[in-house]
Amino acid sequence: MRKKLVVGNWKMHGSRAANAVLLAGLKEAGPWNADVAVCVPFPYIAETALALTGQQVAFGAQDCSAHEQGAYTGEVSSAMLADLGCRYAIVGHSERRAYHHESDQLVADKAKAALAHGVTPIVCVGETLAEREAGRTEEVVKRQLAAVIHTLTHCIGEIVLAYEPVWAIGTGLTATPEQAQAVHQVLRLQLHAATQKSDAMRILYGGSVKPDNAAQLFGQPDIDGGLIGGAALKAADFAAICRAA
Ligand code: G3P
Repeated sequence: MRKKLVVGNWKMHGSRAANAVLLAGLKEAGPWNADVAVCVPFPYIAETALALTGQQVAFGAQDCSAHEQGAYTGEVSSAMLADLGCRYAIVGHSERRAYHHESDQLVADKAKAALAHGVTPIVCVGETLAEREAGRTEEVVKRQLAAVIHTLTHCIGEIVLAYEPVWAIGTGLTATPEQAQAVHQVLRLQLHAATQKSDAMRILYGGSVKPDNAAQLFGQPDIDGGLIGGAALKAADFAAICRAA
């Protein structure tokens, strides 16, 4: 049995004051049966770490550099994230693939850099609406995952994978549990061919997960939790999603 994992991706939201309220709300709402984490903007990691000391909720970042260190203005290395105590780093979110032109290979390199410092990469894959409508969903997510498998080789079993259909992100359009499960199954099979650890690996679903649809999604055999955007910004909603896991 895989333990469910629910991760809040705060994206570029928050302030010191708002974060304090949100984290205090989570503190009161737990504990949960699932593993729970929040991935916060870089400037707030240290304060989040303090606020979550001794709590069930782990924390992480929303990206990391593929480089170790050096003259890379604006980049944040996974060594720095590890130094701050981050357990996770999201890599390859579709917003970064789209707005920052991150390639499959760069995403894979970021995942490798994270693992090298003991930070678990949450690797996102997902198709756009045009790709889905063209019947290319499987081809796209398999290509995205293949780059990571190829780059990490025997370490692939250490990642968390997240399927986030781009058309479902922030749109209120959720993949149906069956649609999501179908893609998760494809991804599980691909992992199965790459590692003996595939059955233990967690594949999260992301895209308009809310308190009222979480339980159904998480009830699918290959959906092991969620990567939550908008609903992670309200303690009550995020807590309810964690309860559903
Ligand atoms: O990474 C989480 C994500 O992109 C989903 O966002 O707002 O649709 O839950 P949202």
